[in-house]
Amino acid sequence: MKIGVCGTGRMGSAIAQRLLAVGHEVAVWNRDAAKTEPLTEAGAKALPTPAALVEGCEAIVVMLLNDAASEAVYRGPDGLLKGKLAGKLVIDMSTVRPDTMQTIGASVAQHGAAFVESPVGGSTAPAREGKLFALVGGERADVARAMPVLEQLCRRIEHVGALGAGSAVKLAINLPLLVYWQALGESLTICKPLNLPADRLIDIMSDTAGTPTAMKGRGAVIAKVLGGEPLGPTAFGVNAAKKDLATAVQYARTLHAELPVAASALACFEEAEAAGLGNADATAISTHWPQRQAKAKS
Ligand SMILES: NC(=O)c1ccc[n+]([C@@H]2O[C@H](COP(=O)([O-])OP(=O)(O)OC[C@H]3O[C@@H](n4cnc5c(N)ncnc54)[C@H](OP(=O)(O)O)[C@@H]3O)[C@@H](O)[C@H]2O)c1
Repeated sequence: MKIGVCGTGRMGSAIAQRLLAVGHEVAVWNRDAAKTEPLTEAGAKALPTPAALVEGCEAIVVMLLNDAASEAVYRGPDGLLKGKLAGKLVIDMSTVRPDTMQTIGASVAQHGAAFVESPVGGSTAPAREGKLFALVGGERADVARAMPVLEQLCRRIEHVGALGAGSAVKLAINLPLLVYWQALGESLTICKPLNLPADRLIDIMSDTAGTPTAMKGRGAVIAKVLGGEPLGPTAFGVNAAKKDLATAVQYARTLHAELPVAASALACFEEAEAAGLGNADATAISTHWPQRQAKAKS
């Protein structure tokens, strides 16, 4: 199948790699064209605009940072909505506000294409392995049409309702995880005066009921950073994580609900971003907090 990947940041690149690996003809577009180079070296074709991407593909997988990026890339001068969309399939995997998926989905449908929202759980490694967890919203027939592609990218696919429902569930699954990274930083702050070896402390924390499965992959990295080593490559940035918390808090307001713990964690993520950690991996939140407290004391 000819599949376009629109947005080749960390996740879009990993998804494009997976689509190439399973034998699709892959085309890519990214605002910063330099990020398409590793993919063209691996066999993808880079196209100059989102509209050109639509032209040459049967299906388009969209993976953009946030609501502003979605607005720009769909509705911009050479945006996706300017391409020949009739008869095509658009699968949007970005994590954005539910109403953004609804309005963009309606615009895409007006141009005669099928639109499915499918934000995902799982980071770059699961994306490369086809082991994401898709939270899907859309019309049943459109979702059925998207299934063959989703099945090559995901280990689990949950169709949770109409457009917007997938985004709401995605925001819901990230909320406790992101609160956890801050909560872990606070736990480590309490333990700091004990001077326990970092790997032992993380091992103790990890063998408890309150620990998310994400610690299986990230615990060792956090222990290394606590021990003085550099953080290493970013899988999911502090900036994107902050956006998810902010989006959840904003979305809850539209439901006339308050999220006090998420709002409090959001303030900590904002503070970490202001301290220069925006591009660091979200797990930097857990190591930043004890360091920040130590600095504040001295
Ligand atoms: N990383 C993860 O582990 C993970 C896991 C699940 C879901 N997600 C979600 O997946 C989405 C992408 O995340 P990511 O980690 O791949 O982020 P990323 O590496 O920062 O990539 C963001 C992408 O959005 C594009 N973009 C940002 N602002 C734009 C604008 N105004 N106009 C056009 N393009 C714009 C970037 O283009 P440039 O390269 O030109 O800046 C890039 O292609 C986010 O919604 C995130 O919450 C991420």
